Amino acid sequence: MATAKQNLNLIFTLSFLFVFHLHCSTTSAQAPAPAPTPPGTPDVTKILGKAKQYTIFIRLLKSTKVSDRLLGELNDTVDGKSIFAPTDKAFLSLKSGALHSLNDEQRVELVLYHVVPIYVPLSQFLTVSNPMRTEAGDSGDGEFPLNVSTAGNTVTLMTGLTKTNVAGTIYTDGQLAIYRVDQVLQPLQIFASNSSTPAPAPGKPLKAAGVAEKSRALSIAVHNLALFAVIVISFALSL
Ligand SMILES: *[C@@H]1O[C@H](CO)[C@@H](O)[C@H](O)[C@H]1NC(C)=O
Ligand SMILES: *[C@@H]1O[C@H](CO)[C@@H](O)[C@H](O)[C@H]1NC(C)=O
Ligand SMILES: *[C@@H]1O[C@H](CO)[C@@H](O)[C@H](O)[C@H]1NC(C)=O
Repeated sequence: MATAKQNLNLIFTLSFLFVFHLHCSTTSAQAPAPAPTPPGTPDVTKILGKAKQYTIFIRLLKSTKVSDRLLGELNDTVDGKSIFAPTDKAFLSLKSGALHSLNDEQRVELVLYHVVPIYVPLSQFLTVSNPMRTEAGDSGDGEFPLNVSTAGNTVTLMTGLTKTNVAGTIYTDGQLAIYRVDQVLQPLQIFASNSSTPAPAPGKPLKAAGVAEKSRALSIAVHNLALFAVIVISFALSL
């Protein structure tokens, strides 16, 4: 027979475990809270987040800190900005391992290559002279050039490796324009020299992600099993 004290202990243990369990399952699912942004300044990652299908570009903007830089610059600009945002599909269609083989500096350059330091409304691309200046490199002429051509309403971007059309407008406010592109704009400076060599460890990132996913699932299963065992044992002890 369980004494009142044992029952109290059991209830205490169970509620603790339950709260602990809730805590574990919620914290593993939540993303860290975003930093507060000044009102009025458009936040590129938030706009892209609402537009869906830009998770890889958002991750790159954040990991390279270009998103912070854009927030500051958009807060204090007369020229504005134009951004070409590649979809997740665009990133997934890159040669496997292409992103992984880049060093930190090249990642920043790749992201900045998608940022033009002026606001260009869609109808004004025909006035841009080639090569269009991007924010990659030290903005010297000819460094990280991006060419534009227009035909009717179609705006085509050419890097020398990539040729793709502006596929849509995600956001525009007279100061910032964000355009959708269905291919990652690959600058020659980063991707040309090694384009003939096989990408290192093809398929590895995907496999690694799969393994991480599996081990996470396994650890959740073990966690739940342990919780169940503790409940059963506590219950048996209290009888
Ligand atoms: C935006 O500009 C205001 C006024 O110029 C300044 O006080 C504020 O710190 C700036 N915010 C960012 C994120 O740069
Ligand atoms: C870009 O335009 C410049 C100037 O017209 C030209 O010299 C260059 O070959 C072009 N490059 C590409 C990749 O289209
Ligand atoms: C190209 O590959 C070589 C080694 O194969 C590496 O040292 C170099 O940094 C790479 N260049 C670029 C632009 O990725």
